[in-house]
Amino acid sequence: MKRIALLTRDCGGVNAAIRAVVRTAVARGLAVEGVMRGYEGLMSGDFIPLDRRSVSNIIGLGGTILKTARAEEFCDEPGQKAALAQLRARGVDGLIVIGGNGSLAGARVLAERYGFPVVGIPATIDNDVPGVESAIGADTAVNVALDALDKIRDTATSLERIFVVEVMGRKCGWLAMQVALAGGCEEVLLPEKDVPIEAVSEEIREGSRRGKASWIIVVAEGRASAADVASAVTANTGFETRIAVLGHIQRGGSPTAIDSIMAARLGNAAADALADGRTGGLVHLVGSRVEFLSFGAAGDVKKIDIESDYRLLKILS
Ligand code: F6P
Repeated sequence: MKRIALLTRDCGGVNAAIRAVVRTAVARGLAVEGVMRGYEGLMSGDFIPLDRRSVSNIIGLGGTILKTARAEEFCDEPGQKAALAQLRARGVDGLIVIGGNGSLAGARVLAERYGFPVVGIPATIDNDVPGVESAIGADTAVNVALDALDKIRDTATSLERIFVVEVMGRKCGWLAMQVALAGGCEEVLLPEKDVPIEAVSEEIREGSRRGKASWIIVVAEGRASAADVASAVTANTGFETRIAVLGHIQRGGSPTAIDSIMAARLGNAAADALADGRTGGLVHLVGSRVEFLSFGAAGDVKKIDIESDYRLLKILS
């Protein structure tokens, strides 16, 4: 193997992972091509050479210096073949993909359908990659959302109001659960657990009779919108509600130390795995040890243990 390419999505810690991949690959005698705008750039051949200097001072930057994009065309065979042709035209003999389930699904197609050497690095705020305990960017997203939530609490407490805060996570409730626990919230509504709004409303009515005056309800985007939850709570209780949709701020920001360190370990391990011919899977951390997991070996959906964290939230709230 002489030349590898690197393709990314965006979240906190991705630039730190780019740095680790490039510097490890260079140390192993490999040339590195950065793929601009994810699979879109892979199909159109938008590559830039990356060396040790091109990744200087990016370790603490949010987002991805390589930009990213959604590329539906890559889901079909002509797009996949165009991408392979671009890789071969540049003499690229291995690919590292940093991203979440969508990006890693693309990586798996290249590896399994076309036999191209690919190694994945899980990076997503949703933390929903099957078989992977922690993805790069998830801890940063929890901290960014927690910072916003703490500010919302100041107003919720001062004005004695009910706030419904919507967090991202696609179909997974992991991010919402972490934010609710870390923020000491009263309730969390998740795709994985059916807590009816009527029950939440009854709890609010009962709390209000005891003199409780403010609530923060976190809702995962995969369960419902904050607007729908807030209007149902108002309809059931007669209390005013306010909403906050945290949106894409959760995907931005400088990585936490946890994410930067994970990015260093996984970026290094992915470049080593490719150089050593261990491909067709992803690298991830089990504790502080890096493990290699073949694509598809972990099933299609990540299982998360919501029940014990949910019980804890209710005991403490
Ligand atoms: O997968 C990361 C994520 O931020 C999800 O939490 C969210 O549902 C989605 O991406 C938003 O996608 P887009 O940036 O394309 O709107």
